[in-house]
Amino acid sequence: MEKQSRILLMVFIIITTTTTISPYMAEGSIIGVNWGRKTSHRLIPSMVMDLLLQNNIRHLKLFSASENVLKALSGGEIAITITMPNENLRHVFSRDLAAYYLQERVRKYQNQNVNIRYLHIGNEPFSKLSHEVLFPNVVSTLRYIQEMLIRNGYENVTATTPHYTDVLIPGIKKPSEADFRPDIKEKMVEFITLLNNSKAPFVVNMFPLIFNGENHWDPEFAFIDNNSNFTIHDDNGLVYKNVFEFIYDSFLHAIKKAGGGPNVELTVGQIGWPTDGYLGATSANAERFFKHLLPFVKSNKGTPLRPRISIEVYIHTLVDENLHKIKMGAFRRHWGVYNNNGQPKYKIDFSGQGRDMYPTSAKGVVLMPKRWCVFNGNTTNQTLVQQMFDLACQEVDCTSLSPGGSCHHLNYVQNVSYAFNRFYQNKAQYNNKVFLCEFGGLGKVVLDDPSVGTCKFPIEILTAEIADTKGMINMAGHRLSGYWTVLLLSLLLIIGIYM
Ligand SMILES: *[C@@H]1O[C@H](CO)[C@@H](O)[C@H](O)[C@H]1NC(C)=O
Ligand SMILES: *[C@@H]1O[C@H](CO)[C@@H](O)[C@H](O)[C@H]1NC(C)=O
Ligand SMILES: *[C@@H]1O[C@H](CO)[C@@H](O)[C@H](O)[C@H]1NC(C)=O
Ligand SMILES: *[C@@H]1O[C@H](CO)[C@@H](O)[C@H](O)[C@H]1NC(C)=O
Ligand SMILES: *[C@@H]1O[C@H](CO)[C@@H](O)[C@H](O)[C@H]1NC(C)=O
Ligand SMILES: *[C@@H]1O[C@H](CO)[C@@H](O)[C@H](O)[C@H]1NC(C)=O
Ligand SMILES: *[C@@H]1O[C@H](CO)[C@@H](O)[C@H](O)[C@H]1NC(C)=O
Repeated sequence: MEKQSRILLMVFIIITTTTTISPYMAEGSIIGVNWGRKTSHRLIPSMVMDLLLQNNIRHLKLFSASENVLKALSGGEIAITITMPNENLRHVFSRDLAAYYLQERVRKYQNQNVNIRYLHIGNEPFSKLSHEVLFPNVVSTLRYIQEMLIRNGYENVTATTPHYTDVLIPGIKKPSEADFRPDIKEKMVEFITLLNNSKAPFVVNMFPLIFNGENHWDPEFAFIDNNSNFTIHDDNGLVYKNVFEFIYDSFLHAIKKAGGGPNVELTVGQIGWPTDGYLGATSANAERFFKHLLPFVKSNKGTPLRPRISIEVYIHTLVDENLHKIKMGAFRRHWGVYNNNGQPKYKIDFSGQGRDMYPTSAKGVVLMPKRWCVFNGNTTNQTLVQQMFDLACQEVDCTSLSPGGSCHHLNYVQNVSYAFNRFYQNKAQYNNKVFLCEFGGLGKVVLDDPSVGTCKFPIEILTAEIADTKGMINMAGHRLSGYWTVLLLSLLLIIGIYM
């Protein structure tokens, strides 16, 4: 190969390998966890490894495959799913590229005792809600990867692609009405044929609270505890009492219509309940949801259409992600079972036994000093106050202030304080060039926790892997120009620290 094309290939591989991951297994019901890392201050990977083992979690899906993360997970105790990011699907793949990808992203780490079991090619490539564009190349890329898995002897690695619920035609009233959207039907038929012939499972990402909300069904229908008076009767006589079974069986119908036999397994790559930013998104509801979902999974009860089967689910997600895009809604930053500081938000028994217990919290986390930055209340210049508020919220996560959020009840002055504090903590309280609680003379540092009832003014963690957010910080308000932002973002992507 010429030098130039080899370099291009290398860059391609590096880019390909740094973004997404997901897990599941064919033997028995499985409860795994996803670790999304779009977070400004991250628990360090070895701490997370310890947290998983303490909680007896043996399956992990990652959305970034940074080298440091994979290495921290070596030891083989935890079965890992890694994901090829959608960005890679823009390129036309070949068998050679597929072989090279597997060598660099799978074999290399297997040799370091990293237990890579699943490979997700793209993440929700046909979702119109998740991205601006679709990635139709995904099916041929998956085909090449599957071929090379067999040819090169990766016998314990399974490759598939996760899809979001919006691959189904919207507004169906019964599972038997389900089918894939007409614009992607042909691709889905190709995809299902691949799965059917390779024993790879279909993976669906589902969010019962959101799906239920979109359909305006009884809020009780989103839970699994058989308490919903609203039920759905399908033509085949089957009765649905919760949205989980509704979505699951809808996918079974759609898969069948696309030519998939009963041998195509259906697993759940993401399932979660946000705790902020959506009607019904509270810790109490998340606790109730999992309290019944996980024992249901462990019971191998199955669903009305496929009774007595074991189901694999991946809880979405381990910790909140304050850098997540919020195009779909503010709730996307609040999926965490844990707060960013490694403390659980609510009780959950990951083993599926339904015990009334908090999971183990992260060990060794050190918080920043107990200092908060708040608004000093000087409203003489309203324009200035608003300007500083906007500046802070452009940089950091203010989603809890939005309607339905845990801090929506704050008054204006508290609102501004909340924003100032998020900024101050996000920038680690200290910077040797700029006083981070300046805000045009409107900020002041306080030593008493200014939290207002349920609205917490968080302090960031110190023992963190700090995400490089240079492209977003730039204190004095002048942002990087488009060119430099693009360059920086591509670099971050390549190094794998951005996601
Ligand atoms: C696949 O897994 C089986 C069972 O754990 C093991 O015996 C075998 O060596 C593995 N194969 C490879 C190529 O790792
Ligand atoms: C759900 O509740 C109904 C009565 O509302 C009951 O007949 C049924 O057995 C319950 N199902 C389960 C699984 O508890
Ligand atoms: C369901 O219906 C029963 C009987 O009408 C009623 O007592 C109960 O409160 C209802 N449950 C909910 C959650 O609405
Ligand atoms: C799916 O697999 C089954 C069983 O292996 C086979 O009979 C069927 O023809 C396959 N369908 C397609 C569309 O490949
Ligand atoms: C309040 O802010 C204005 C400028 O916005 C400033 O002129 C004034 O001195 C400030 N008042 C106090 C008490 O700091
Ligand atoms: C108020 O603040 C704005 C924005 O910083 C500034 O442009 C304006 O001159 C200030 N007004 C007064 C009266 O100081
Ligand atoms: C606080 O900020 C949020 C988000 O910008 C806004 O929706 C809300 O109306 C504000 N509250 C007050 C009292 O200004």
